[in-house]
Amino acid sequence: MFTDPVLKRRLTRFFDPGSLLGPPTTRDLLGLYREYRLDPRSAHPRLYESESLAHLSHAQLLALFQAMRIRREHRVLSLGEGNGAVSRVLVKTMGCRVTGVDFNRRLVVSARSLAKVHGVERRVEYLQQDVQALRLGKRRFNRLYCHETMCHWQDKALALSGALPRLERGAVVGIHDWLRGDKGSLDEGLRRLPALGRMYAKRIWFQSTLAELAGLLRRLGLEVLVTEDLTDAVDAGLRKRLAFIEAVSHSAGDRARRAARSFRAVLPAHYAYLRYGRVIARRR
Ligand SMILES: C[S@@+](CC[C@H](N)C(=O)[O-])C[C@H]1O[C@@H](n2cnc3c(N)ncnc32)[C@H](O)[C@@H]1O
Repeated sequence: MFTDPVLKRRLTRFFDPGSLLGPPTTRDLLGLYREYRLDPRSAHPRLYESESLAHLSHAQLLALFQAMRIRREHRVLSLGEGNGAVSRVLVKTMGCRVTGVDFNRRLVVSARSLAKVHGVERRVEYLQQDVQALRLGKRRFNRLYCHETMCHWQDKALALSGALPRLERGAVVGIHDWLRGDKGSLDEGLRRLPALGRMYAKRIWFQSTLAELAGLLRRLGLEVLVTEDLTDAVDAGLRKRLAFIEAVSHSAGDRARRAARSFRAVLPAHYAYLRYGRVIARRR
């Protein structure tokens, strides 16, 4: 089953490069690297922070990779990879190979061209596919991660059932996700918090609780090793990033101002309509 076409259009519009809250276009990124004198071939954390508006920080991403015990010789599958910001960090820090899947054509094009700019093109490949209808050929993997994407999948069991048979025995699965809050999902938050409603797309949210995610993985035969609520840490991190942008607001560019607006809008939704979590599981 493919994702419902209306949902697919909404998600594509929301995450297209250059959209209000999507990642910058490749052209804009090349300008940012020059402006901030960032070497795109390096593993500098600011690269990730300018390439992605992910709420989980660069440090939290590294903690996920460490918890998954990713090694150089591993082949890693990433579902909902976006513009490749996450896999570029992974390849540079761990030296493994990554296959990233995303259904947004413009994000896949951007991921392929940025891989060349970052000098990692031999270690990554990107497939334009719906995670609910995976076609992975003969590929086999030692690790699978899903970073801030499962909250948009209508049928998480279907997507994972396509991926799990491709994992070797003992393979580790790592998830960072936007979870449902104590009062409901972001769609409810969008109705109650007008500033949030003006920035975030509606009807693209299928958040689970940490317990639901863990239950799903167990039903699919995985051994769940870790479940961790990261809301406190993400909330503190976004407040810090917001304070920094506000402190330099006189010189902040358009994109930084937009990021500040989105953080200001989303912070009141934390806990009530949005939590964050990490799950680590293993294929038996
Ligand atoms: C919030 S972005 C996260 C991107 C990336 N993982 C990161 O953390 O920077 C969510 C991504 O999931 C992708 N996505 C959502 N549903 C999908 C599906 N059914 N199949 C493939 N990709 C999907 C979107 O296109 C988008 O790139």
